[in-house]
Amino acid sequence: MAGRTAIGLDIGTSSVRAAQVTVTKGSSVLDRFGQVPLPVGAVRDGEVADADAVAQAIKQLWASTKFTKKDVVIGVSNQRVFVRLVDLPWMPTPELKASLPYQVADLVPMPIDEAVLDFVPLDDIVIDNTRQVRGLLVAASQDMVLGAIRAAQKAGLKATTVDLTPFALLRAAGTADPLSQFGPEAVVDVGSRITNIVVHEAGVPKFVRILLQGGDDVTAAVVDRLGIPMSEAERMKRDPAFLASDAGADARRLVEAALTEFVDEVRGSIDYYLATSASKPLSRLVLSGGGSLSQGLAQKLATSVRTQVEYGRSFAQLTIGKTGLAPEQVRFVEPLAAVPVGLAMGAAS
Ligand SMILES: Nc1ncnc2c1ncn2[C@@H]1O[C@H](COP(=O)(O)OP(=O)(O)OP(=O)(O)O)[C@@H](O)[C@H]1O
Ligand SMILES: [Mg+2]
Repeated sequence: MAGRTAIGLDIGTSSVRAAQVTVTKGSSVLDRFGQVPLPVGAVRDGEVADADAVAQAIKQLWASTKFTKKDVVIGVSNQRVFVRLVDLPWMPTPELKASLPYQVADLVPMPIDEAVLDFVPLDDIVIDNTRQVRGLLVAASQDMVLGAIRAAQKAGLKATTVDLTPFALLRAAGTADPLSQFGPEAVVDVGSRITNIVVHEAGVPKFVRILLQGGDDVTAAVVDRLGIPMSEAERMKRDPAFLASDAGADARRLVEAALTEFVDEVRGSIDYYLATSASKPLSRLVLSGGGSLSQGLAQKLATSVRTQVEYGRSFAQLTIGKTGLAPEQVRFVEPLAAVPVGLAMGAAS
């Protein structure tokens, strides 16, 4: 039986990445995966800043990875995307979505005619004898979304869908195994500049937080204090043997301090959710993204958030097809692939 094929395109700060997934009855296959680095400044704070540079990298990605389609799903995640829990008068979902501009104008921090809106219904509730629907309201700046769509267009692609990056992350890296019966799971993708946090119960998102913080802030702390070039600080940061050596003592302290600050932010977001939702404590925190590879981060999170921390498996639900990647390359890219894989899975299923 012919399956449905979709390509997820993740325009990150450090790289553009894409995954092609085909879903047939009962199985999902990773057909292709590729990534191309972006020049500094092409994407700033999670937004396309230099469309030509991004388009150039996407073209290179298509040339090197041989994707079989030009239709893509793109993800958005930055300070101009807003997600919050709201209660709205009950209506069938299609009507509710159509009525959003009239209902939520006061709830979003941008002019309503400049926002792209969506709503994810979670619960039917009754307040003051009135049936209401509680769910996650998503509002994204139209202008920012168009920036991403245009960069894809310039590269000869067509963005057929725009998805919220944290939802894609949840699809690919979230787990719905028995452990989560004991409490919700947090999935945290640490990028260069953006950290996506999504707390879910059995795959249903309950809370989303987008932090403007990531691995590059750790590097920047080393650059600032040691007065060395970015590339050197980056190399030091990724070298556990150097950090453990006497010569690496200063860098180690700076990395440790930056990670501690980062972990405090993540814990703050999760504590906020737990305190405002009367939720059970977390059963687990799952990590992905390049920034999550920082040595010691998982341990610091486990201590601070007081939960079990594991690395997510972006390919756990997929069979690896003829990607052209060697098994060790598949293992290397898996922590970086949650977002593009989740974007593709959402569109292909
Ligand atoms: N082995 C490693 N140890 C420590 N940090 C690492 C390692 N590998 C990558 N990083 C860090 O991961 C970050 C890049 O992660 P990733 O590729 O997920 O970001 P991105 O998707 O391009 O950016 P964003 O999602 O923030 O827009 C960089 O800050 C880099 O320094
Ligand atoms: Mg990213």
